[in-house]
Amino acid sequence: MTPYCLNGDISPFLTRVLVPIESAIGETRVAATPETTKKFISLGCSVTIEKGAGLHAGFTDEDYKTVGGEIVDPTDSPSWNLADIVLCVQCPKTEKLTKMKSGALLIGLLSPYGNEALANELQTRSISATALELLPRISRAQSADALSSQANIAGYKAVLIAASALDRYFPMLMTAAGTVQPAKVVILGAGVAGLQAVATARRLGAVVFVSDIRQAVKEQVESLGARFIEPPELKEMPSESGGYATQASDAFLAAQRKQLANQLAESDVAICTAQVPGRRAPLLIDNEMLDRMRPGSVVVDLAVAQGGNCMGSEVGRTVERKGVKLIGASDLPCSIPYHASSLYSRNLLALMEPFLINNSFQLDINDELIKGSLISLNGEVKMPNIFKSGGKTS
Ligand code: NAI
Repeated sequence: MTPYCLNGDISPFLTRVLVPIESAIGETRVAATPETTKKFISLGCSVTIEKGAGLHAGFTDEDYKTVGGEIVDPTDSPSWNLADIVLCVQCPKTEKLTKMKSGALLIGLLSPYGNEALANELQTRSISATALELLPRISRAQSADALSSQANIAGYKAVLIAASALDRYFPMLMTAAGTVQPAKVVILGAGVAGLQAVATARRLGAVVFVSDIRQAVKEQVESLGARFIEPPELKEMPSESGGYATQASDAFLAAQRKQLANQLAESDVAICTAQVPGRRAPLLIDNEMLDRMRPGSVVVDLAVAQGGNCMGSEVGRTVERKGVKLIGASDLPCSIPYHASSLYSRNLLALMEPFLINNSFQLDINDELIKGSLISLNGEVKMPNIFKSGGKTS
C-alpha cells in the first residue's frame, strides 16, 4: 500500500512531499515556503526540499530545517523515487519526471495545453498530475487559485515597468515650472492582471481606459476609477464560458482594433493582458496602430508568451519600433519571487489540505476542484483534448 491513496484507501504511513529546485530558466519561485512546509508537516506529511530550492525567493535551507523540513542534494534521485507528491511551480524536466514512482502525484502549473510530450510522460510513468491552470473558477477555488495570485503580481509589475520606461510622469503635478498632465494608460483585458494593472496605474495617478469583451467587468473597471471602452457591436459577439472570454472571430477583432486605434494614438501606455485560455491571445494592436502611437510611448505585452496582443512584441525582450517601446513581459511573477512563492505555496496548501485527513492523503477524484484539474490519474490521461496541439478546455 502506498501512502498516497485515492478515494479512501487509508494509509498509516507518512505522505512524502518533495519540493524540487525549479529547472526552468529564469524561474525564481519555489512551491513551498517554510510556512507551508510547517503546515504540511503538522498535517502528517514529511517534506523534503532540494538544497537551495528557496534561495532565489529568500528562503534558506536553514529556514526549512527549522520547521522540520529535510534538505536533500538535488542530484539525489531516491528523493524523487520516494516522493508520493511532488509540488512544483513549473513542470519538471523529463529526466526528473522519469525518476518519479508510478502512482505519485505531481502538482503545479504544468502548461498542459498542446503539451503531448507531457501526456506521454505521465502515461509512460503512470504518474498522476494536477494542472493548476485548469482549476475551475468557482468561489471555493479562490484560495487555491494560482493563476490569480500570479496574475495579480504580473498586473502590478507591468505598470511599474511601464512607468519606469515611459518618458513622462504618471501623475498630474502642479509645479512652480507649470502643470504636468497625467499619463493616459489603456489596459486591454480586465481579468485578474488587468484589474490589478488598473488599480496600480490609478494609484500612480494615471487616467486609465479599459477594453474587455466581457460586459461583466464594466462595473469593476468603473469602480476602480477607470473608463470602460465598450466593445464593438457586431452580430457575432464573443461570449463567456466559466468566467472566461471565448475566442473572438477575426471580424470582431478587426472591428475592435479599429475602435482602439484612436484611443491608443492619444495614449502614453498600453498594458496588454487579454487572453483566451488554451488559444492564441487576441491580436489587438497591429503595426498601423503602432505607427500612430507617439515616440516615447510604451506597450507592455503580458500575453506575449501566448502569441501576444501586440504585433512585434517578443518574449523577454524590449523592441523599439519608431520610438515606441514594446516590452514582452512573460514572467513577471518571477521578478517578485518572495511574494509570488508565498502566495503560490499557500494556493497549493489550500488545494491539498482538505485531502490530508488523519495524517494520510486521500485524494477525492470526484471533488469538483480535483475533477477539473486532474489531467492524469495513475497515467490514465484525463481530458485528452487539452494535450492536443491547439488544445482547449471545451
Ligand atoms: P484571462 O487571463 O483568461 O483573460 C484576461 C482578460 O482578457 C479577460 O477578462 C478576458 O475577458 C479578456 N479578453 C479576452 N479577449 C479579449 C479581447 N479580444 N479584448 C479585450 N479583452 C479580452 O482571465 P483571468 O484573469 O484568468 O480571469 C478570467 C475570469 O475568471 C474573470 O471573470 C475573473 O473574474 C474570474 N475569476 C474567478 C475566480 C474564482 O471565482 N475562483 C478567481 C479569479 C478569476
